Amino acid sequence: MIGDLVGRPGRALFSTLIGPLRAKYRPDCVVVNGENAAQNGRGITAQTVEFLRKSGADIITSGNHIFGQKGYTEAFLSSDRLIRPLNFPSECPGKGYVLFTTPSGITIAVVNAQGRVFMHEQVACPFKSMESLLTFLKSQTKLVFLDFHAETTSEKQGMGFFLDGRITAQVGTHTHVPTADEYILPNGTAYITDIGCSASMHSMLGMNINSVLSRMITQLPSKFIVEEAVGPWVLRGVCITADVATGKALSIERVEIIKAELVINQDTAGKE
Ligand SMILES: [Fe+2]
Ligand SMILES: [Fe+2]
Repeated sequence: MIGDLVGRPGRALFSTLIGPLRAKYRPDCVVVNGENAAQNGRGITAQTVEFLRKSGADIITSGNHIFGQKGYTEAFLSSDRLIRPLNFPSECPGKGYVLFTTPSGITIAVVNAQGRVFMHEQVACPFKSMESLLTFLKSQTKLVFLDFHAETTSEKQGMGFFLDGRITAQVGTHTHVPTADEYILPNGTAYITDIGCSASMHSMLGMNINSVLSRMITQLPSKFIVEEAVGPWVLRGVCITADVATGKALSIERVEIIKAELVINQDTAGKE
């Protein structure tokens, strides 16, 4: 599971590194968070969904920025592998989970949910939403992976302990800053508060430092610009292994690849 790809650098990191990552870890499924994958860092287009899928993403999760592009409906219509937080209103396009069959014939569920603490969207209770979805998912598979898109460490920990032993893994996204607390909870669920993002290291959450800092200091409007010029570049995520028979996690390992140079063009980042 790979953290939020921010703009074209995030896409270029993914397309450049997914080959070596697949060779090293031999994953049955690659999940990537695409809520910031559009060129301006907000949302995703159908074109970018296609690019990421062709590059090697099996499932694309998202979060609060997922409806940030005008073409969000087309993006969801273009692929059932793109999911959005489960607890958004039912009128929103897309759905909050996907059942995926691996090349070796194993069915896994990938779920996306969003937290409520310090988040602007008035979404339904993520705990109760997960509880009711699990009733259904457990009839389909023991292997359930959750991308919990939330701001606070406490809400993410709360969800982890709420689901411990009932899902295979919960990874956090949204803060874009990785945490060092990956481990297996007492009842067998792999957990990490946040897996971080894939972007310029010398940026603020993937955005140009001055574009964010000037708003903090002056309180004047400032357009946040994806940092495309200044490296090094980092891809972050985790590799999780699980026991297919029980659905319990066996290991969770943080993945971090730093590149001094990154080619960002249409071949590596797609056309949008
Ligand atoms: Fe994000
Ligand atoms: Fe987010």
